[in-house]
Amino acid sequence: MLHVRQVSKIYEGKVAYRALTDIDLTIDDGDFVGIMGPSGSGKTTLLNLIATIDEPTTGEILFDGKTTNKLNKNELAIFRRRELGFVFQDFNLLHTLTVEENIVLPLTLDGNKVSVMKHKVKTIAEKLGITEIMKKRIYEISGGQAQRAAIARAMIHSPKLLLADEPTGNLDSKSARDVMELLERINREQKATMMLVTHDAVAASYCNRVVFIKDGRFYTEIHRGDNRQTFFQKIIDTLSLLGGYHNDVSTIRIP
Ligand SMILES: Nc1ncnc2c1ncn2[C@@H]1O[C@H](COP(=O)(O)OP(=O)(O)O)[C@@H](O)[C@H]1O
Ligand SMILES: [Mg+2]
Repeated sequence: MLHVRQVSKIYEGKVAYRALTDIDLTIDDGDFVGIMGPSGSGKTTLLNLIATIDEPTTGEILFDGKTTNKLNKNELAIFRRRELGFVFQDFNLLHTLTVEENIVLPLTLDGNKVSVMKHKVKTIAEKLGITEIMKKRIYEISGGQAQRAAIARAMIHSPKLLLADEPTGNLDSKSARDVMELLERINREQKATMMLVTHDAVAASYCNRVVFIKDGRFYTEIHRGDNRQTFFQKIIDTLSLLGGYHNDVSTIRIP
């Protein structure tokens, strides 16, 4: 589905900064990929390039065989709205609207029929177990509930690829686990393709594989297999080899 080919990113400025160098990454349909690396290693940069929010300096990104960095502004807006779903660390929900209104928002932008929207919202709320909070406003719900609402909003148009940047970054460990279990279930049951950027080893252990980057370069990749606990341990071991994780390792959650 997605091919990142020899992608490099240099941020131009007073001093040019090389954030990514020669990144190759393939994501297949139904994959659930985690991206890890120390702070400043280029994780968000990579996600922004795939999300077409920013453009690679060199290299190319192919989505279903099409080069996204060649689309014009209008085509890009439509591509992002139809093919991608986004989940952020800070949820990005509109606080004065209800959960339901937030979830339906992407559909109203695309001019869907009211009856169709109502049906979709109801279905996704049931799937994600948030039916009881649909009439509540965002300031009336917990962080964990807000992230479930944000996932519902990201998934309501059945995107080809769901992109998440530190989706558990603002959650306590119980809510973080619930959110990851939810994403894992959506990946498994709906064959949704997902890419998640995280520095949380527990969150990463729910992915099928984890790609590590260091100083903007590919470092290594590990695969989950059957056992999440074993995978978690492998992730921890890789992080300690990777270095630059001193602050994070001390706060690592018990899996
Ligand atoms: N818009 C920007 N302009 C200049 N430098 C940037 C910009 N965005 C990120 N960087 C730099 O690129 C590097 C990688 O950043 P980022 O992708 O956000 O890392 P991560 O998400 O892994 O913490 C960092 O050194 C950061 O300071
Ligand atoms: Mg980041």
